[in-house]
Amino acid sequence: MSIIIKNESEIEKMRVAGKLAAEVLEMIEPYVVPGISTDELNTICHDYIVNTQDAIPAPLNYRGFPKSICTSINQTICHGIPCDKKLKNGDIINIDITVIKDGYHGDTSKMFCVGEVNPHAKRLVKITQEAMYIGIKQVKQGAKLGDIGQAIQKHAESNRYSIVREFCGHGIGKNFHEDPHVLHYGKAGEGETLEAGMIITIEPMVNQGKRHIKILGDGWTAVTKDRSLSAQWEHTVLVTEHGFEVLTLRQEEIGLI
Ligand code: MF3
Ligand code: CO
Ligand code: CO
Repeated sequence: MSIIIKNESEIEKMRVAGKLAAEVLEMIEPYVVPGISTDELNTICHDYIVNTQDAIPAPLNYRGFPKSICTSINQTICHGIPCDKKLKNGDIINIDITVIKDGYHGDTSKMFCVGEVNPHAKRLVKITQEAMYIGIKQVKQGAKLGDIGQAIQKHAESNRYSIVREFCGHGIGKNFHEDPHVLHYGKAGEGETLEAGMIITIEPMVNQGKRHIKILGDGWTAVTKDRSLSAQWEHTVLVTEHGFEVLTLRQEEIGLI
């Protein structure tokens, strides 16, 4: 597969899909409290996407994934499967939402702090969000994918964290995952050149300890090998002539980036 450049009508559909994905994260926030199970969060999001948004939750049955969202708590890096496990005070959780609307995908995730979270966990969450924004700020026509990777890696590692290498961002459009692979580490000036009309996700996973991962027996859940905490944030981003447009921006981020 090669990188698909989107035309204006496709970009407009990606704006719609991106906005819907962002709105699911806004909708779910008040429910992310101690005592709720990740299955309950899954059901609320599923019903909202299907009934209110008239859209499709992309993860459901994607390569055998059994649920409509991913919920990754504490040492889980990504692809956590919603289940009857309940959130507890002090947890950090990533909720990753991908919706399909009119044939196009919007993909975004954020971290939620459940109740009172300790300062070390809060710092990990904050530095990871900053790493994503710093990566997004590299995006413009003519920049290289390696510019994004290096900027993200530098921010994480200079704060004594590590970058997960087994998962990366991706092109997105009619397909959930398209070319290119968007690595969250690397060297500035290396890799593909960005062109206006490309749409990619930037979704760094940052570990408090070492970068190494383990996949659990369910074949999906990725956890830190050393059981340290992990955080992730994700946006879907359009490359423009002079910069970028975040297609999954939430109200709370206006002015932040
Ligand atoms: N939303 C994830 C991503 O950012 C992919 C999840 S695949 C699933 O690329 F099958 F687990 F949903
Ligand atoms: Co993604
Ligand atoms: Co995602």
